[in-house]
Amino acid sequence: MKIIESISEMKNVRWGMDGPVGFVPTMGYLHEGHISLVQRAKKENASAVVSIYVNPTQFGPKEDLKKYPRDIPRDLAMLEKAGTDVVFIPPDGDMYPTGYNTWVDLEKITERLEGAARPGHFRGVATVCNKLFNIVEPAKAYFGQKDAQQVLVIQKMVRELNMNLDIVVCPTVREPDGLAMSSRNTYLKPDERKAATVLYKSLQLAQKLYDSGERDAGKIRRQMTEFIQKESLAHIEYISIANVNTLDEQEKIAPPSLVSMVVRIGAPRLLDNIILK
Ligand code: PAJ
Repeated sequence: MKIIESISEMKNVRWGMDGPVGFVPTMGYLHEGHISLVQRAKKENASAVVSIYVNPTQFGPKEDLKKYPRDIPRDLAMLEKAGTDVVFIPPDGDMYPTGYNTWVDLEKITERLEGAARPGHFRGVATVCNKLFNIVEPAKAYFGQKDAQQVLVIQKMVRELNMNLDIVVCPTVREPDGLAMSSRNTYLKPDERKAATVLYKSLQLAQKLYDSGERDAGKIRRQMTEFIQKESLAHIEYISIANVNTLDEQEKIAPPSLVSMVVRIGAPRLLDNIILK
């Protein structure tokens, strides 16, 4: 496994790599969710490249950039075991040199949900992914359904800017009790970690109501809200039931619908979703 710490070296090494190349962008502090993407990339391509880069431009001024968890030696051990060929760890000065001015700004779908809660977040995500795609030149890039809106933004960018790669969406990997794996779960104290199971349980409740024929999004949202409010550590930021492509909120469910939510458990914002088919 090669470890590369500059853009120029990554471009050089890319020349000699066997294609097709599968690419998994990450911010590190890896877990089984990330590793599932790497395994899929490895299976479907001749080579797998993984980037580890805590991208400063996707964090708001009051967000957790400084304290975002980092453990490169542990990440490297996990990546080696998963069969990664190249790990790309670019420095900030290489990615955003002084005077950096170029941004990828998507309209509309970035104004909702996570985009509304975190202004500028998707500008940072789209820009860094565009840069990473240009540097790594993958045939396919792998993203998790866990970040459903991120997937939509990246797919739209690739389509609308005619970029030469496929985006592959992989299922959300969960802990045995249903909590979606996330690097930010390490912020949870033990009682918060227990409380955090309300997210997936409330999504399962939505699925159950839908399966029994309920199509009134308001009713489903209300039942989810009541369920979550029974957990005193949980504070709902939003629960959305929306068209899976446009993210337009639905009153009457017309599948496929994305049920997505952010619930704060103590300080950490936890994100989860399912698709009603
Ligand atoms: P990060 O949060 O590290 O996630 C990297 C990739 O792993 C994303 O595609 C994310 O959706 C996926 N992922 C995270 N948790 C998952 C889980 N439980 N199951 C399956 N996949 C999961 O998302 C980012 O980094 C950044 O925004 C990035 C795309 C790297 C741009 O900076």
